[in-house]
Amino acid sequence: MSFKFFATAAKGTEGVLRDELRELRFRRVKATRGGVRFEGPASEGYRACLWSRIAMRIMVERATFACPSERALYDRVRELDLGDVLTPQHTLAVRASSSQSYLSHTQFIAQKTKDAIVDSMREDFGERSSVDIQDPDLRLFVHINRNECTLYFDMSGEPLHLRGWRARGGAAPLKETLAAAIVRLSGWTPDALFIDPMCGSGTLAIEAAALATKRAPGLGRTFGFQRWASYDHEEVTNWEKLQEEARAAVQDVKLNIVASDTSPESIALAEDNAQQAGVAIQFSARNVTNWLPEERGGWVITNPPYGHRLGNSDEAYLALDTWIAKSRGHWTFCIISGSPELDAAFLAPKRGARWHALHNGDIECKLWTIQTK
Ligand SMILES: C[S@@+](CC[C@H](N)C(=O)[O-])C[C@H]1O[C@@H](n2cnc3c(N)ncnc32)[C@H](O)[C@@H]1O
Repeated sequence: MSFKFFATAAKGTEGVLRDELRELRFRRVKATRGGVRFEGPASEGYRACLWSRIAMRIMVERATFACPSERALYDRVRELDLGDVLTPQHTLAVRASSSQSYLSHTQFIAQKTKDAIVDSMREDFGERSSVDIQDPDLRLFVHINRNECTLYFDMSGEPLHLRGWRARGGAAPLKETLAAAIVRLSGWTPDALFIDPMCGSGTLAIEAAALATKRAPGLGRTFGFQRWASYDHEEVTNWEKLQEEARAAVQDVKLNIVASDTSPESIALAEDNAQQAGVAIQFSARNVTNWLPEERGGWVITNPPYGHRLGNSDEAYLALDTWIAKSRGHWTFCIISGSPELDAAFLAPKRGARWHALHNGDIECKLWTIQTK
């Protein structure tokens, strides 16, 4: 049986997610607003949860129907038989979104959907699932677009950026999924040198290392679909086989990845994180001003302080400025910036500077790329 899946993506990462899923040999891969579609048997959903570094969630489509009114939403959801996945002993949570539709109040849509599901259960079994917003067994997502409703089950459970290796937060960590998208957008390949001189909790370096060693990002955690009623003996076997293949795929390669930060606490955190993630990275506590331009060339991929939480840091930018000006050989600098002032002062004037729009949570960012010869 073939299913339709939707992998959600942070704004600006849809293109690299599409490329990643194609490279992972998913079928009928198509980028669209907010994410990427693909198709295949249920195990392809498992495989995407295990292997996609960039997707935020993997959803499987359960039903699509015309939804011109509240009545239509309630009636059509009530008719659905969801017993293969959800029993009265399972908890659920519903979220909704809507665009250009008669029903636009997302909380109302979620509430009506939940009512229809539990009313149908009560009729069939005399008991119903309870709602658990924090940690439900089944997360449903309802999207209404131009009065057409699609009901999805979220296979991921907890969002996919939670890889299972992060010990504590750190100052302003990038989400792992965004970091993986940035590494891909940078064009870095594992044979080249990777430097993050303002690494914080180490996210960019750890994601680069996981990519280089072919370590599946989902190996250290569990997923939502494992809590569904449909996760029977056969599905357990399918999942265990995928995990075994992923473990066998890990390569013990020498990494060309170095990372530093001015804060010794951040370096201690990054070291803990890398150890948990199972990757060996050379970390050191040093100021970005102490990096000397080297002959050999490589990639500098970094996320300097900016925005509301840390405040803008001219010192860090001045150091990068000098580094760019003095560097010899082929270097690619990829700098994530959320500050239009710093962009205008330092990055935009650089020869050949180009940028890609990204969203870091609710901060609009630019990933700047500057190449030197
Ligand atoms: C936005 S955070 C990086 C977050 C990181 N990408 C992560 O995912 O955890 C910026 C980092 O730059 C570091 N930093 C600020 N000024 C620096 C400097 N002059 N030299 C080196 N690191 C610096 C801060 O200590 C902070 O950890």
